[in-house]
Amino acid sequence: MNIDLAINEGSKILKSKFIPNPLLDAEILMAKTINKDRNYILLNSSDNINKNDLSNFYKLIEQRSLGNPVAYLTKKKSFWKSEFFITKDILIPRPDTELVVENVLRLSKQKNKLNILDIGIGSGCILLSILKDRKTFYGTGIDKSGKCLKISKINAANLKVCSRLKLYKSDVDKFNLGKYDLIISNPPYIKKHKLKYLERDVAEFEPRLALDGGLDGLTEIKKVIKKSARLIKKNGKFILEIGFDQKNRVINLLKKEGFYINSTQKDLANNDRCIVSTKI
Ligand SMILES: C[S@@+](CC[C@H](N)C(=O)[O-])C[C@H]1O[C@@H](n2cnc3c(N)ncnc32)[C@H](O)[C@@H]1O
Repeated sequence: MNIDLAINEGSKILKSKFIPNPLLDAEILMAKTINKDRNYILLNSSDNINKNDLSNFYKLIEQRSLGNPVAYLTKKKSFWKSEFFITKDILIPRPDTELVVENVLRLSKQKNKLNILDIGIGSGCILLSILKDRKTFYGTGIDKSGKCLKISKINAANLKVCSRLKLYKSDVDKFNLGKYDLIISNPPYIKKHKLKYLERDVAEFEPRLALDGGLDGLTEIKKVIKKSARLIKKNGKFILEIGFDQKNRVINLLKKEGFYINSTQKDLANNDRCIVSTKI
């Protein structure tokens, strides 16, 4: 069988299981199977594929048809300007989260040296993207999950920013080290009872610890704001990703902890997604 035919067969299987973008997913999974990029697949679609590769390809198609996200099957995801190593233990980086990176880079144009804290670093996508762009900045990442820290360490090595990064396994509640010029966080913010209504790819495959914001969705956000108020320097910027319906409540929490609200921003789907504030 040639590559083109196998992709079409795979795509048909995915379509029959109501997977969105079946052809694209089949192409990416074929590229993963034969260890080439998608362009190679498109340019060499009449090449024959050997039995072993075909069997591996169908195994990936089966996984995908059960809802397993492509990023977990290929173990990688593009974010900002880099590719991040991904496993099932971490949240898959989202394009909406690039808003946090954009804000930091815009606000720090004139800065020579910044000490940044990322609360809930996950794959490292936010902090490591910033450190890669700004060679004089230093970063500290914390996460409750040791598995996340292992992955962010691998990503830091891939992006060559290890020498400017410190990682700590800690609950945000228990972390008391240092003072920071800038704090960033994309905390879990989904209401517990809404988790089961998320898309199947998310609800069944992505880690609960990265999603579960407690009964009102604000449990972890509250902890992050309280802790940031103590760890941030005066006039330091705090950039927080939030859920689409949390803007007003989070603004009130920030004000109570002594933050001035600079701006709020919407994501690609026009939902409130990011708040920039300053400690006064
Ligand atoms: C929504 S994910 C964000 C991951 C990554 N920063 C990103 O933007 O893709 C939230 C992260 O916070 C971590 N986390 C959840 N609760 C935490 C807590 N109480 N203390 C520290 N980290 C926590 C999770 O393990 C997860 O990696």
